Amino acid sequence: MEAHKPCILAIESSCDDTSAAVIRDGVILSNVIASQAIHAKYGGIVPEVASRLHQENIALVVDEALQRSNVSLKELDAIACTSGPGLMGSLTVGLSFAKGMALSLGIPFIAINHMRAHVLSHFIDEPKPSFPFLCLTVSGGHTQIVLVKNFDEMEVVGTTLDDAAGEAFDKSGKILGLPYPAGPLIDKLAKEGKANISFPIPQIENLDFSFSGLKTAILYYIRDHQKEDPDFIKNNLADICASIQHTIVEILIRKITYAADLYDIKEIGIAGGVAANSGLRNRLLELSKKNDWNVYFPAMQYCTDNAGMIAMAAHYEFLAGRFSNLDTAPYVRGM
Ligand code: KG4
Ligand code: ZN
Repeated sequence: MEAHKPCILAIESSCDDTSAAVIRDGVILSNVIASQAIHAKYGGIVPEVASRLHQENIALVVDEALQRSNVSLKELDAIACTSGPGLMGSLTVGLSFAKGMALSLGIPFIAINHMRAHVLSHFIDEPKPSFPFLCLTVSGGHTQIVLVKNFDEMEVVGTTLDDAAGEAFDKSGKILGLPYPAGPLIDKLAKEGKANISFPIPQIENLDFSFSGLKTAILYYIRDHQKEDPDFIKNNLADICASIQHTIVEILIRKITYAADLYDIKEIGIAGGVAANSGLRNRLLELSKKNDWNVYFPAMQYCTDNAGMIAMAAHYEFLAGRFSNLDTAPYVRGM
């Protein structure tokens, strides 16, 4: 084992993606992700189904990650896995598998916090942000602004009081009758429409977010207009989508701008599935010119849930000599 060039297998199973990755000396050699399309049928993630599919997929996904990396079990120096936050049953599948592997290979186990890993996804490829930076983590499950002082010290300075940003896209889409997850489809339709409907922007004084008011506003708006035109949604879908996207992006942009001013930071990273949103990307690029910000978007495979980011976080844990006990338990909440 070369302590300075650790070779680590990482597993992520906190929600509905089963993923495994191999990292050597801080370089990702493979990142395999098996997504669970079945949840679309139910209009959201069904935890029990997610756990069962993780159990079916995990051995195959780990095997594939090892094969693609060309790394043998003997070469591994540690096994890492997400221990939280996430769905209890989903986390348990990955954790048990990872601990079992570490135990049978006689190598250390490293438990990783999923939210910290999203932040550290910025260190997988170039260009990398410099410290301190602000990370806006936005996905179906999370909405956070994190003040990142170094690889270790991270402070959540803003979070959602209700729905996550991706959830706001998905729930708005559900009202419009769009399939789950609606985020990508709203993004696509928004390009053909005009943001000519004004939905309210919540006035929260600190860096916290709220998206639940938007749902209610959309519901009432649609209900009122359907009285005159039963086909109102169909006849105005692109404009409604453009307006929803504009509102969600505006909420995110106002907060990240406030945080950048408050902490006097011009290094801004974006992580999570909503980083794919073209409206958010365009606004951030505009602001990077206007405010002299450097904005960082990891490659999409490292923005959505993936084991590559868990591997990156584990790399730094390994270098710091921080390992976890085999009695590490999964947790539902917390950075
Ligand atoms: O990171 P991710 O794959 O999984 C979670 O941890 O949730 O993020 C999925 C979320 C979903 O809510 C999805 O609707 C949203 O990200 N999403 C988007 C776009 N692509 C994915 N939202 C808006 N615009 C997109 N282009
Ligand atoms: Zn995530």
